[in-house]
Amino acid sequence: MPENEHKPVRVIALMNQKGGVGKTTTTVNLAAAIAQQGRKVIIIDLDPQAHATLHVGVDDNESPDSAPTVYDLLLDDDINIEDCIRKVDDHLDIIPAETDLAAVETELSGKPGRNQRLANAIARSTSDHEFILLDCPPALGLLTLNALAAAQEVIIPMQAHFLALQGVSKLLETVGLVREQINPVLRVAGVVLCMHDTQTSHSKEVVADLERFFESQRDSGTAWASARVYHPPIRRNIKLAECPSFGQTIFQYALWAPGALDYKKLGDTIVAEWDRALAVARSSDLSEAEIRVLRGAKESLERHPTESPEVEA
Ligand SMILES: Nc1ncnc2c1ncn2[C@@H]1O[C@H](COP(=O)(O)OP(=O)(O)OP(=O)(O)O)[C@@H](O)[C@H]1O
Ligand SMILES: [Mg+2]
Repeated sequence: MPENEHKPVRVIALMNQKGGVGKTTTTVNLAAAIAQQGRKVIIIDLDPQAHATLHVGVDDNESPDSAPTVYDLLLDDDINIEDCIRKVDDHLDIIPAETDLAAVETELSGKPGRNQRLANAIARSTSDHEFILLDCPPALGLLTLNALAAAQEVIIPMQAHFLALQGVSKLLETVGLVREQINPVLRVAGVVLCMHDTQTSHSKEVVADLERFFESQRDSGTAWASARVYHPPIRRNIKLAECPSFGQTIFQYALWAPGALDYKKLGDTIVAEWDRALAVARSSDLSEAEIRVLRGAKESLERHPTESPEVEA
């Protein structure tokens, strides 16, 4: 359980093996929305494309002598989170990726505990960040595995297409395996619909299918038993596509754009969920990991107070 001595920390992996679905856009702008509430956030860029790093205006490839990156953090036990942090804005930091990160998969493959490198780095961190958001690459390799081993929660950014639903079942299977074999507290918090066209009947059907599926899983004991579709969805908004090339978050680039409003609402929801969990934790002697397990069970009870368990294949 990645909980340091100072403060409980909520570690969220933004994951979908499908490319171009909105993982990086969601990582960066959700992190910025949380930071706007005065809560300390670090983005950890685990993608060799380094899109999150570039999105916030950090370009490490230009200065080879600069501070260590996520590459060093994963490979070197003497490098700590605190050594790798670059400041982005008030309350918002990033641990950047660099293109060398592509080699990490090969270099890690020979190392003991190769899946746990990031989890260990977070566990020994003394930073006072309350949220850590992990931007995963569009692949199920060692980098994504490190994210899943370090996180308590997975948020799945996706687009509402029928084919995307097939990808989600593969993704849930992977999260389930990691929970069974590596990280027993891992759970799917939910799906964020990205580039969403609210008006089409196709997208409405896909959202309804997803919601029905998650409802049917409440008593399943799976990693996604308490997952939900976050509302409102993130609408398709050109400002969100433009801001990375200026090295800015949507809040720096276009504060009044629909994209800023949508990510602000998502940030509010994520912070409120966390505050509720912490309030329960403070009123009892349970660890934060135990609280999360209980919270999943409580949500399930509230939704199905009298029904008998029902698991759909
Ligand atoms: N809500 C949105 N409205 C308009 N454009 C968007 C929106 N969300 C993301 N985009 C754009 O869609 C493209 C893909 O988004 P993004 O890079 O976040 O996806 P990704 O899942 O991280 O991709 P990869 O798998 O390559 O890492 C980017 O050009 C981004 O600017
Ligand atoms: Mg990305």
